Amino acid sequence: MRRTFVVGAVLTACGLAVGLPAQVKERPLPRLAQKDGRYALMVDDAPFLMLGAQANNSSAWPAMLPKVWPAIEYLHANTLEIPIYWEQFEPRPGQFDYTAIDTILTQAREHRVALVLLWFGTWKNGSQHYMPEWMKLDPARYFHLIDKNGRPADSPSPFATASLEADIRAFSAFMRHLKAADPQRTVLMVQVENEPGTWGPLRDYSPGAQKLFEAPVPADVLKAMNKQGSPPSANWQDVFGPEADVCFHAWSVATYVGKVAAAGKAIYPLPLYANSQLRDPIKPGAPGSYESGGPTDNVIPIWKVAAPALDIVAPDIYMNEGAEYLKVLELYHRDDNPLFVPETLGSAAVARFFFSALGLQTIGFSPFGLDYTHVRAPEAGAPAPREAFLEPTARNYRLVAPMMREIARLNFEGKLQAVAEEKGTVTRTLPFGPWNAIVSYGVSRNSRAVGNPEPTGRALVAQLKDHQFLATGFFCRIDFSPTDPAKRRQFLRVEEGTYENGVFKFMRILNGDQTDWGLDFGSEPLVLRVSVATY
Ligand code: DGJ
Repeated sequence: MRRTFVVGAVLTACGLAVGLPAQVKERPLPRLAQKDGRYALMVDDAPFLMLGAQANNSSAWPAMLPKVWPAIEYLHANTLEIPIYWEQFEPRPGQFDYTAIDTILTQAREHRVALVLLWFGTWKNGSQHYMPEWMKLDPARYFHLIDKNGRPADSPSPFATASLEADIRAFSAFMRHLKAADPQRTVLMVQVENEPGTWGPLRDYSPGAQKLFEAPVPADVLKAMNKQGSPPSANWQDVFGPEADVCFHAWSVATYVGKVAAAGKAIYPLPLYANSQLRDPIKPGAPGSYESGGPTDNVIPIWKVAAPALDIVAPDIYMNEGAEYLKVLELYHRDDNPLFVPETLGSAAVARFFFSALGLQTIGFSPFGLDYTHVRAPEAGAPAPREAFLEPTARNYRLVAPMMREIARLNFEGKLQAVAEEKGTVTRTLPFGPWNAIVSYGVSRNSRAVGNPEPTGRALVAQLKDHQFLATGFFCRIDFSPTDPAKRRQFLRVEEGTYENGVFKFMRILNGDQTDWGLDFGSEPLVLRVSVATY
């Protein structure tokens, strides 16, 4: 089955031949736009929503790609996030191997899928496991950080100048190649490093690092963190107390990553981001209970000033619980930071939070590990179709893919609201001027809403005109109620249809049993255009 959604059209229109860039028309650069406190990722100069999936860590080798694309197609994803490995890219110092990148670019175009490339460089999950062998074999030059006991840890030192220079050189070569090989703009964004920081030690305790730790905190860090330099020295310990080590490490790592990002961006100014392992968003533990140095919520301002070439710091959300998940989304949805979820679980419990992220104008959502290189056992232990692990994400994307551009545009214009069911909350009211959209969960005919047995409900409502709405979702009811209590709602016209190439294609009018109790959304994609009036 060939997909017809918009990114397909974009990529088809611009040609498929990576080998012949000279014959391919250069398309506008993907970029981030901001309006009235909202962000959008602009692709071909219009808002775009990345319906993403991230491949497993070892899936970016050409031999593995045949196990990736069928999953992406099944998902109706429009964007694949996939690593570029430093160890593959620079097998010998200064010699770059573009074969993996070129294969990924060519095949992405053939499959009409956009890409987010993940630079597995100095840091991968806090370690330096993706450095090329020639670096691993020279730890005196490309050194690890030193723990409190004076021993090298399984984490690169952010003060290793030779590593920084090597990363800058390699990342620059990678971005230079992308600039030349991708006039089609198949690549929308690049992630710089992966979950940078350190597990275990809170920072580098080497003598050189210690000296900096005892030096005054830079003025821009003080300002960003809303701190006064306290006498006598205003060093990191004085200013940040128990969080001194993690703040210092965040500054050290962000400064390094920021230099790598700036070098790449100077060559090819694609949107760049860093992803973060999180700390508990509601009850954050003490330093040491989470990865130190990455853009965790407590140090986002430090990352912003130390790494200004990064457009986004983004949360990797491996959480199932509603309160925590929603809190993370709020923490990373900031005036100075577009919300983007580059990694999350692909489980049924988490699928609904795609709608919560949409409600905060996310520019993309991308569950991790969704390819066939590593198919997990079915959750309940029973035999299941090969696609079972893809299905929760596929349900969302099947619904949204045909109207991805409308959703992205309406969201950027501030006309869209979307929510997910939270345990114990059976109704939600979404205000739209003279109308409220009322979302309820676990309701049939005229019974009271009791919530779904598991909180799987999700709803999206967008105002198309003063009295016309787009309504969709799963496992919920949506109704409309005038804010004027003297008035009552009547449906003028409830149209079921589908979006094709940006145009709403009418299928039928729903009425009678299908509307008398409200508009019910179940497990199948259903898109309604609802015109309301009062009496
Ligand atoms: C988060 C990392 O960013 C991913 O690369 C991967 O290691 C997952 N954790 C866990 O599988």
